[in-house]
Amino acid sequence: MPPGLLESREARQRGHGLFLENCAICHGAMGDGRGPRRVGIDPPPANLTVPPWSDSASAARIYSAIHDGVHGSAMPSWRTLTDRQIWDLVAYIHSLGKS
Ligand code: HEC
Repeated sequence: MPPGLLESREARQRGHGLFLENCAICHGAMGDGRGPRRVGIDPPPANLTVPPWSDSASAARIYSAIHDGVHGSAMPSWRTLTDRQIWDLVAYIHSLGKS
């Protein structure tokens, strides 16, 4: 993980933009799993606003879920995103559920 990532406002902001572009359709604009594409998807898109996703311990897990996808679900692997973009998404997701 890049040093200072979870504290970086810039990383969170870049991650937010990437999230709206790529992820909100399934995970919802707020990350709560209620995006328009969720209908009929089983298992449903994860609610990212609650632990373990909003928890610092899971940063590496979030990274690998985005990088590799989740086998046996509709969650694709995002090989089109750069490493930096994936970490920015991690920073954003980690900030969800915190006020
Ligand atoms: C086509 C719909 C879809 C899109 C688009 C999508 N996801 Fe997912 N995502 C899912 C589903 C379905 C799951 C639930 C997998 C499960 O419960 O096994 C999931 C799970 C996850 C998880 C939890 C991983 C786990 O181990 O359960 C994370 C983190 C995640 N998505 C992040 C993202 C990010 C970041 C993006 C955008 C780059 C994204 N997703 C785009 C459908 C989607």
